[in-house]
Amino acid sequence: MAFATRSFVRAASSASAATAAAKKLVIKHVTVIGGGLMGAGIAQVAAASGHTVVLVDQSDEILKKSTKGIEESLKRVTKKKFADKPEAGAEFIEKTLKNVTTSTDAAAVVHSTDLVIEAIVENLEIKNELFKTLDKFAPDHTIFASNTSSLQITNLANSTTRQDRFAGLHFFNPVPMMKLVEVIKTPMTSQKTFESLMDFSKAVGKSPVSCKDTPGFIVNRLLVPYMMEAVRLFERGDASKEDIDVAMKLGAGYPMGPFELLDYVGLDTSKYIIDGWHSLEPDNPLFAPSPLLNKLVAEKKLGKKTGEGFYKYK
Ligand code: NAI
Repeated sequence: MAFATRSFVRAASSASAATAAAKKLVIKHVTVIGGGLMGAGIAQVAAASGHTVVLVDQSDEILKKSTKGIEESLKRVTKKKFADKPEAGAEFIEKTLKNVTTSTDAAAVVHSTDLVIEAIVENLEIKNELFKTLDKFAPDHTIFASNTSSLQITNLANSTTRQDRFAGLHFFNPVPMMKLVEVIKTPMTSQKTFESLMDFSKAVGKSPVSCKDTPGFIVNRLLVPYMMEAVRLFERGDASKEDIDVAMKLGAGYPMGPFELLDYVGLDTSKYIIDGWHSLEPDNPLFAPSPLLNKLVAEKKLGKKTGEGFYKYK
């Protein structure tokens, strides 16, 4: 009897695990909206892991650039991965590129997609407009995800009627190199959606972590206030930016100092994030704006991309 009960419990629990697994959506077809820095990288890793991908942007010219960027990045990855098997490398590139098609009409291509990953400009109104439109054209089962760094996922989800099939999927730059994905659950995200996205993240070769829909999620919530605190230390004249960078590299083992990192990320992006959080929580000293950062942005010294930020680049 004890044996019978144990086998019954075992059978019942494996049946319920099987039901839970069966409920998960196996994502095969992905639509990535935005073929910029992040979108092209996301399309690349999804295609390289056997998903069929449609990459969408505003013009064929941009998409040509995105595809070329993917091809070049694949060549770099392949050189390392298939160092002694160049033929297998060439085959991998060809197969991956075959998995990517492009379009300038998002509404026309989402009809058969399992997952939409949005990686367009960081603007709430523009993103909401896009999601609202796609909600009408995508099938019921389709999961929507945003790669936003600083906007609330809940605000984006509310522009659709599929709040339970909506989450954040936050990749890191450069996508083919960075192993982390933050999977962001709003209070309305279903367990099935969450688990399907965790599985998808693993399937594209990443290590997913989960976080609630809180400003900055995990990485930026810790990183942005840290970089702002470095700016404040420098603003007070307590240490030079060069010494702060050296200190954090040699003393904390960070690969880049905070000023090098700010220049890499872009001072405009950092200001945009901190200003957004400051407006949400004006009394939080961690989110206080910096006069020096504001001045550099006003002077269009935005970091590496403009040739000057905290440092000068040739
Ligand atoms: P990006 O400026 O390189 O690319 C954005 C692309 O979206 C552009 O090619 C633009 O033409 C396209 N686009 C804009 N509106 C569109 C629309 N309505 N329909 C179709 N395409 C449209 O920007 P990036 O850096 O790739 O960022 C994209 C998103 O990823 C943002 O939400 C950003 O916060 C987030 N993110 C950025 C990271 C970074 O390090 N750059 C890291 C993690 C997330």
